[in-house]
Amino acid sequence: MDKLVVHGGSVIKGSINISGSKNASLPILAAAILTGEDCIIRRVPDVSDTNYMIQILSALGAEVERSSGTVRISCADISDEAPYELVRRMRASICVMGPLLARKGRAVVSLPGGCVIGDRPVDLHLKGMEALGAKIEFEGGNIILTAPDGLRGAEINLRGESGPTVLGTDNVMMAATLAEGITVIESAAAEPEVLDLANFLNGMGAKITGAGTRRIVIEGVKELKGVEHTVIPDRIEAGTFMAAAALAGEGVRLNRVNREHLRAITEAIIKSGHKVEFNEEGTSCFVERGEVLQGVDLNTSPYPGYPTDMQAQMTALLVTTPGISVVKDSIFPQRFMHCAELKRMGADIKLDQGTAIVRGVEKLSAAPVMASDLRASAALVLAALRAKGTTEISRLYHIDRGYEHIDEKLLMLGADVERVRV
Ligand code: EPU
Repeated sequence: MDKLVVHGGSVIKGSINISGSKNASLPILAAAILTGEDCIIRRVPDVSDTNYMIQILSALGAEVERSSGTVRISCADISDEAPYELVRRMRASICVMGPLLARKGRAVVSLPGGCVIGDRPVDLHLKGMEALGAKIEFEGGNIILTAPDGLRGAEINLRGESGPTVLGTDNVMMAATLAEGITVIESAAAEPEVLDLANFLNGMGAKITGAGTRRIVIEGVKELKGVEHTVIPDRIEAGTFMAAAALAGEGVRLNRVNREHLRAITEAIIKSGHKVEFNEEGTSCFVERGEVLQGVDLNTSPYPGYPTDMQAQMTALLVTTPGISVVKDSIFPQRFMHCAELKRMGADIKLDQGTAIVRGVEKLSAAPVMASDLRASAALVLAALRAKGTTEISRLYHIDRGYEHIDEKLLMLGADVERVRV
């Protein structure tokens, strides 16, 4: 189990490239199940979540080759049962359900287990599959979906109590590509990752319109073909490095970003007093620590709102920002595991039912801390860059789930970090 040792206080500067999006790659890899032809997917980040997805596809019988970010998948002959041992490791494995059901008329996927960021049900995914005509049964911890006569288009409202569901929208959209007739998804998730998946599916011959809005229309087709696709930049990795640059930077350039996807994050960083400038095309940005800083209030919401996946990292930035900041997570109200660890480093945070009230302190001090989930670990790395002394962050496997070579990228920017194998 690796740990990251961060010697705080060094200044970061220079430039790095942002990787392809983890959360776009996962459903796109799963979508390759929808065709027997070869799919070539570029800029798939080398993180453990994409590795799990590739292992699941291989276990289903797919032939997969991976070489420096490019993945070639052939699902000529695949089974309809996703192996529990692999599925249980990652919640996003649920997105093999829609493609398997559409391609094979049957899908067996284990029910995802508990999740440290809070309750993460799959009722909306199942509601969508049922509306498309699937029969659903539960047995031995598995969900068994069958549609022996194929799926039929339907009108489906995917709104849950906390708004739309990202992977639920992906799952229904993928299943509907091969359904007979027209499917309309109302209250669809509008995240850029959903649009990227729709672009991938349309490249395969699907007929999807409205992706990236709250209403998606899918006209079913008989079959899909192979496609080549390049995954969009990871907006959360970009946001995390923007926060790092604001915390400890003397001018950091991030290349391969998408300005449009980063609007809410950019706005929050600028509001707290830092400088963010994009090039004309919006594909590269320069972030500089500001001089007059102030607390900000944030509330996470579905895209284009402020993303829950950038809540922990922004909290880490606000911990040493003068004034009071109120950070609310409306999507995952229990996603505040990082706060206990940040407090051990000297942060002044009070938690109150899905809200963190942060009073900016002048400095943090190093402490041994433990990563609890992907984004919480990133928050600890950020805080450690600014803390006085050496912070050891254990359970680094959490961060390796979603950040491609984070230690190497930080080293390139001049941070004093080392990965230690324990
Ligand atoms: N929800 C339901 N029923 C469902 C599904 C979701 O009530 O059937 C609720 C959830 O409990 C939550 C809200 O709906 O309150 C939104 O959850 P969503 O389904 O959108 O989450 P997800 O699709 O499972 C993706 C990302 C997460 C990200 C969320 C929200 C991937 C692989 N995962 O999860 O990313 O936090 O959307 O934006 O795309 C991460 O990368 O660190 C991460 C956790």
